[in-house]
Amino acid sequence: MDIQSKYPSESAVKKTEIVFPNDANPMGMLQGGRLIEWMDVAAAVCAQIHAGNISVTASIYEVEFFHPATVGDIITIEATITRAFNSSMEILARAFGRKVKDSTNKKVGEAFLLFVAIDDQAKPILVPAVTPQTSEEIMLYEQALERKNRKSSARK
Ligand SMILES: CC(C)(COP(=O)(O)OP(=O)(O)OC[C@H]1O[C@@H](n2cnc3c(N)ncnc32)[C@H](O)[C@@H]1OP(=O)(O)O)[C@@H](O)C(=O)NCCC(=O)NCCS
Repeated sequence: MDIQSKYPSESAVKKTEIVFPNDANPMGMLQGGRLIEWMDVAAAVCAQIHAGNISVTASIYEVEFFHPATVGDIITIEATITRAFNSSMEILARAFGRKVKDSTNKKVGEAFLLFVAIDDQAKPILVPAVTPQTSEEIMLYEQALERKNRKSSARK
């Protein structure tokens, strides 16, 4: 492996939360915005470990909510890097929820987050490449380029 390349497992992050009433709507369901905030923090840690540098959120996309989580549920967010480009890195954040008295984990939501590593003047700087290992990592790595190209065309 190239010295300037890292495995996704080196920066993978798991963040755990409990849904409190302040995180929920009047029906006790976790608010989407709060889940995105938790995903953003987990993804920022993942990106910064990979880059070895401060990194900022440039974009959040393909956000989906699958199952509602409610007050008291335990939420686990798994953030993993799919691919690095020049200064930007795509992170996949997946959120799972479980009831305290039930061991089954349900997928609550997921999102892709694009982070850019910056220097002391807040200018983008190069980041190490990603070397995917598992079949899922390879699939996500390949699809990341398609997502990046689609987004670049849309931004133009
Ligand atoms: C993100 C930021 C550092 C990019 O700076 P910039 O001078 O516009 O940089 P560039 O146009 O040269 O782009 C740098 C990289 O970011 C990517 N990028 C920038 N904005 C992007 C966006 N909205 N979506 C996807 N990619 C984006 C570019 O494709 C490029 O990728 P590459 O270097 O891997 O090829 C700058 O726009 C910024 O600071 N934004 C605010 C970030 C912030 O405050 N986030 C917190 C949320 S409020």
